[in-house]
Amino acid sequence: MAYLPAAWQGIERIRDERLMNPPLAAIVAVAENGVIGLDNRLPWHISSDLKHFKALTLGKPVIMGRKTFASLARPLPGRETIVVTRGADFAPPPSVFAAADVEAALQLAAQRAQALGADEILVAGGGEIFAALLDRLDRLYVTFVALAPPGDAFFPPIDGSKWREVRRENHAPGKGDEAAFAFAEYLRREL
Ligand SMILES: NC(=O)c1ccc[n+]([C@@H]2O[C@H](COP(=O)([O-])OP(=O)(O)OC[C@H]3O[C@@H](n4cnc5c(N)ncnc54)[C@H](OP(=O)(O)O)[C@@H]3O)[C@@H](O)[C@H]2O)c1
Repeated sequence: MAYLPAAWQGIERIRDERLMNPPLAAIVAVAENGVIGLDNRLPWHISSDLKHFKALTLGKPVIMGRKTFASLARPLPGRETIVVTRGADFAPPPSVFAAADVEAALQLAAQRAQALGADEILVAGGGEIFAALLDRLDRLYVTFVALAPPGDAFFPPIDGSKWREVRRENHAPGKGDEAAFAFAEYLRREL
């Protein structure tokens, strides 16, 4: 770095720090009543949101709870998944890692982000894992789903004193979308 002008060295240092300690972002689809899941599945089918999830997570480490992992038809292709479980018998398939608690998951995710050159770590649920990591999150990618279905897994209301909305796009239902939805993004407010 010695040959770079001072300002560039600063930029390099910020980039290096970001790579060492990438921001933590939740990605969640939530109904009007806070529901995110029912009987270990999504209570809706919104193709556009599945595409949005893929676009935001590709190439990045994704942390999720064991129940959410069990709800997937197969491990997410093109992503490294870190499954949080207290179960010692969880046998991770290729590109999937097990972590015994959320601290271990965060450490492993930071290592994998560095190895992948990813600039962000995603937390993909479910309700227990969002609750455990909420205070550690830097960013929220939220899909607001215009439904209020019954459910047994929830995301808490977004507290405007802690989170600043920086983007919102409203969408009418397209092909394969069961309901209207909005993509929103929040950044944690500086204290
Ligand atoms: N709408 C959305 O965006 C979205 C996203 C993700 C999931 N979901 C839905 O959410 C539901 C699943 O959420 P959930 O809250 O029931 O389960 P979850 O958070 O996916 O997983 C819970 C499991 O994670 C492990 N775990 C949780 N906290 C832990 C800790 N501190 N240390 C170690 N392990 C820990 C435990 O696994 P063990 O029992 O193996 O120890 C626990 O049973 C499903 O309906 C799913 O479809 C919705």
